[in-house]
Amino acid sequence: MTARPLIPLLAIALVALGVAATTPQADDATYIGANKCRMCHMPYFKAWSATKHAHAMAALAGESDAQKAMAAALKVEILESADRTDACVTCHVTGFRLTGGYPQPDSLKNVALATVGCEACHGPGSKHVSAGADDRRKMINGHPTAETCKTCHTATTSPKFDFEKMKGLVHATVSAAETPSK
Ligand code: HEC
Ligand code: HEC
Ligand code: HEC
Ligand code: HEC
Repeated sequence: MTARPLIPLLAIALVALGVAATTPQADDATYIGANKCRMCHMPYFKAWSATKHAHAMAALAGESDAQKAMAAALKVEILESADRTDACVTCHVTGFRLTGGYPQPDSLKNVALATVGCEACHGPGSKHVSAGADDRRKMINGHPTAETCKTCHTATTSPKFDFEKMKGLVHATVSAAETPSK
């Protein structure tokens, strides 16, 4: 993980730290984008695709009163547009400015990362995907906690956030039985 001096990046840096603390083996994993998770986790992918996380950049498109309200609450100045303002983008994408994360020159990969994707909560997935069956589970954070969510769902951005009520909504229709077996 690269330490950078920009304050808005702190939240994402903390996500990465939290993940590193629970899965030290995956320390140097990089972001690969939600599309790469689809083939092995179709039920999760489908359920996630129907959530706002899968379209989180849409909230930054164009101009809206909701954007202005968020900017005022965060004391952020939107210069060109919200989707080009780093201090907004950081929480509406996956792995902002981290290795393999948003933005990427490859447009397909970039689209997959322009979401609050699987790896925004489960941590970067490259090593989980390349690992052999015996190590696969160790290479990903299977149990994101409230702390993971609260790097983005802060008292300012999400005053009504309630982890216990909301954690079930992130890929709502899936049961643990649908996690593939190795
Ligand atoms: C090549 C197939 C494959 C791909 C691609 C894949 N996974 Fe997995 N994943 C698995 C298998 C198999 C398991 C179950 C491992 C086990 O039981 O040991 C698993 C388990 C998991 C778990 C549960 C871990 C736990 O502790 O219970 C999570 C979370 C997960 N994957 C997330 C992802 C994410 C995020 C991506 C994309 C970055 C991804 N997976 C891509 C095959 C894959
Ligand atoms: C610290 C992370 C974070 C930052 C920074 C952030 N957002 Fe968000 N944004 C969120 C979260 C979390 C939600 C979902 C809130 C909820 O539904 O509880 C959200 C929701 C929104 C929504 C939807 C609100 C609605 O009423 O539907 C808009 C629009 C939005 N953000 C715009 C922005 C803009 C513009 C900026 C920059 C000025 C920004 N966000 C910066 C985390 C963030
Ligand atoms: C907004 C955060 C978030 C996103 C995005 C997200 N997940 Fe999850 N995921 C969770 C939480 C929270 C749990 C439940 C963890 C627990 O039970 O402790 C979970 C559980 C899982 C599990 C089961 C782990 C187990 O051992 O039972 C798998 C597999 C999984 N997610 C895969 C995915 C995949 C694949 C994607 C993307 C298509 C994805 N998740 C997107 C937060 C997220
Ligand atoms: C990388 C930042 C980020 C992380 C991490 C994150 N979220 Fe979000 N979440 C957002 C943003 C941004 C939105 C708003 C998307 C929109 O409205 O377009 C949102 C929206 C939501 C919504 C939809 C709210 C609504 O009005 O429908 C729920 C539910 C939610 N998040 C739950 C969670 C949970 C639970 C976790 C942790 C397991 C989590 N989120 C982690 C950024 C994040």
